[in-house]
Amino acid sequence: MKIEERYEKCSQLLQKYKQQHLLTFWDELDDSGKDRLLKQIQEFDFELLDEKIHRYVKNSSVKLPTNIEPVPEYPALPQNSEQKEKYIKAKRLGTELLSKGKVAAFVVAGGQGTRLGFDGPKGDFKISPVKNKTLFQLFAETIKAAGEKYGFEPRWYVMTSPLNHEPTRKIFRDNNFYGLKEQNVFIFQQGTEVNFSSDGKILLEEKDAIAMSPDGHGGSLKALYKNSAVADMKARGIEYISYFQVDNPLINIFDPLFIGLHVMDKAEMSSKALTKAGPFEKVGNFCQINGKVTVIEYSDLPGELAEKKNKDDSLVFSLGSIAIHIINRSFVEKLNTAGFTLPYHKAVKKISYMDLQNGQKIEPQKPNGIKLETFVFDALPFAEKSIILETIRSEEFAPVKEDESQGPDNTVVAKKMMIARWASWLEQAGVEIPKKPDSSIDCKIEIAPAFAICRQDIEKKKDKIPQIKPGDTICLE
Ligand code: UD1
Repeated sequence: MKIEERYEKCSQLLQKYKQQHLLTFWDELDDSGKDRLLKQIQEFDFELLDEKIHRYVKNSSVKLPTNIEPVPEYPALPQNSEQKEKYIKAKRLGTELLSKGKVAAFVVAGGQGTRLGFDGPKGDFKISPVKNKTLFQLFAETIKAAGEKYGFEPRWYVMTSPLNHEPTRKIFRDNNFYGLKEQNVFIFQQGTEVNFSSDGKILLEEKDAIAMSPDGHGGSLKALYKNSAVADMKARGIEYISYFQVDNPLINIFDPLFIGLHVMDKAEMSSKALTKAGPFEKVGNFCQINGKVTVIEYSDLPGELAEKKNKDDSLVFSLGSIAIHIINRSFVEKLNTAGFTLPYHKAVKKISYMDLQNGQKIEPQKPNGIKLETFVFDALPFAEKSIILETIRSEEFAPVKEDESQGPDNTVVAKKMMIARWASWLEQAGVEIPKKPDSSIDCKIEIAPAFAICRQDIEKKKDKIPQIKPGDTICLE
């Protein structure tokens, strides 16, 4: 079709949906600019766009149902002999599935990491306390070590976004895929969503480009399918996806207990949870709505529910989501073949845009526009069955989200938590850890995944651990 015809068609649609301002600079564009802009517009599903604007962009209230109930979980440690037996069986099953290569690792790494103030893919952020390893390196080494431990060829799926896809691929290439086989690392991009002004007008980022941003980690469920990652899993006999976020250096990527419980209970998508540090900790809240496990984001849970207490003074909604899931490959296939949609969440953000009056690029100082995102946990209610396994914070959760001045999820805390976890692994194996008079740890410890990926691995390596003196810096590799 000729460019004039395409223009005519787009222009009519834009008028119908009151977005004709997108062609404001048409006469100033060269042929490639015109083509670029029209291509973006032609990809719009205008009906859907209109619905999004009315339902999510212009609407600020999140309507929660009234029947929100607490949800049962598997405790971190078994509470009775029956449970003890189940956990032993589950661990055995999980180990067997791992050794058969049925589980793949999947990290969502398409976010911007603005709060951390780090310019580049967040996975490239250096975090390990002694060797300064990046998040990606720690994950890769953990995945490699798990493959060696359980005797399978591990496969890692990495989701990026247009914001960081090429830089991420370059980082992996420059680091020789951190010792993994290149063909076992599958890097693919998530989808995008257009950005809006608060009155529902689509923003132009350039005269010939529409403002777009990643569609949230919920987009992973579509992207896995669209980019043939799911087909790739099927071809390799992978049935379970171990989903985690790029910001958690303590992640236990292949946990036999979690995998085993999920499979024994015939669940489709399961989650790990921790007991919240307080009613308003910034983690999603697990609950149950109409018998379905659901997560309500911290910003959406009404204060009175967040603070509601049981008779024993514990929080009614005490389980926090740490964005760790086991997802069946078949569940992702089922959702996609059924043409599922997840609800959108609205985020008011600073979005640079073209001023339509004077054609100048504006870099706003305060939030001026709206991004729509989907969240992966909104797929939980679609699952026939979903279990929750509680985990211990000091073992598995130290998110790196912000710099020290901004809040508790910072790098200093994360590094301390890494050292403390490794120290506790060593202590349990009988190694003496030097302590200061205030009982804080008086040494710097790092344990490379090749040495141990979990507490139990230390036992077999006891003879390789040197004596640790106050002020020492040691790395066990
Ligand atoms: C998230 C969860 C919160 C959970 C907490 C645990 C949401 C809305 N909230 O909070 O419930 O308790 O983590 O640490 O997710 N990402 C993409 N593509 C995107 C957006 C994000 O891949 O389009 C990835 C990021 O790279 C990151 C993860 O998703 O790995 C989380 O994103 P982030 O925006 O940092 O979530 P939080 O608000 O910190």
